[in-house]
Amino acid sequence: MKYVIAPSVLSADFAKLGEEVRTVSEAGAPYIHLDIMDGVFVPPITFGSDVVKAIRPYSDKVFDVHLMVEEPGRLIEGFAEAGADILTVHAEGCRHLDRVLQQIRGLGKRCGVAINPATPLSALEWVMDQVDMILLMTVNPGYGGQKFIPYMPQKIRALRERLNSLGLETDIQVDGGIHLGNAADVAACGANILVAGSAVFRGDSAANVRAFRGILEKLG
Ligand code: DX5
Ligand code: ZN
Repeated sequence: MKYVIAPSVLSADFAKLGEEVRTVSEAGAPYIHLDIMDGVFVPPITFGSDVVKAIRPYSDKVFDVHLMVEEPGRLIEGFAEAGADILTVHAEGCRHLDRVLQQIRGLGKRCGVAINPATPLSALEWVMDQVDMILLMTVNPGYGGQKFIPYMPQKIRALRERLNSLGLETDIQVDGGIHLGNAADVAACGANILVAGSAVFRGDSAANVRAFRGILEKLG
């Protein structure tokens, strides 16, 4: 299993987003996590596909777009054209999840499905073999800098066990409250793509990315 750090630019300085993305890319972050919020699925509004397009030239790393929006099917094409490599939609935000996943794959993009902390794993059961990545929210979505929810390790382990039993090596991404102190623990539970916003961008972002890499590269 490959373990990677995915800095979330939600905690970056939006006034110099391109530079922030360049800095963490050059420090060796393989993924750039981009949080799209619509003010409905979650209260805040962040940015849309034009901003993704504008920062695309600043990095050749994987653009990992996390859509915290209602009915993301409406927006998939725009983000795909803007340069997204992975498009992740919330199961809770899609009336027709299967169709939206087909839409993403049809555009030649990697697809992910996300669930909120209280959403049961059973919501994923029938789409597990259709996705490249499953995102387990480890805080309630909408804000950076929240505390990791204590029951999440059990949920991560249960998902990894279920995937193993199906013979699937699907990536498990965790998002929310991840920091240098719990990165190895969530990885031990079975998560392999770790999103970190405040733990990367508060302070020296390049040094923080290198510190995460130091932990994760020892694991595999
Ligand atoms: C929250 C977002 C996260 C956020 C995580 O809804 O999906 O990606 O940036 O922030 P931290 O790492 O500070 O908890
Ligand atoms: Zn996110």
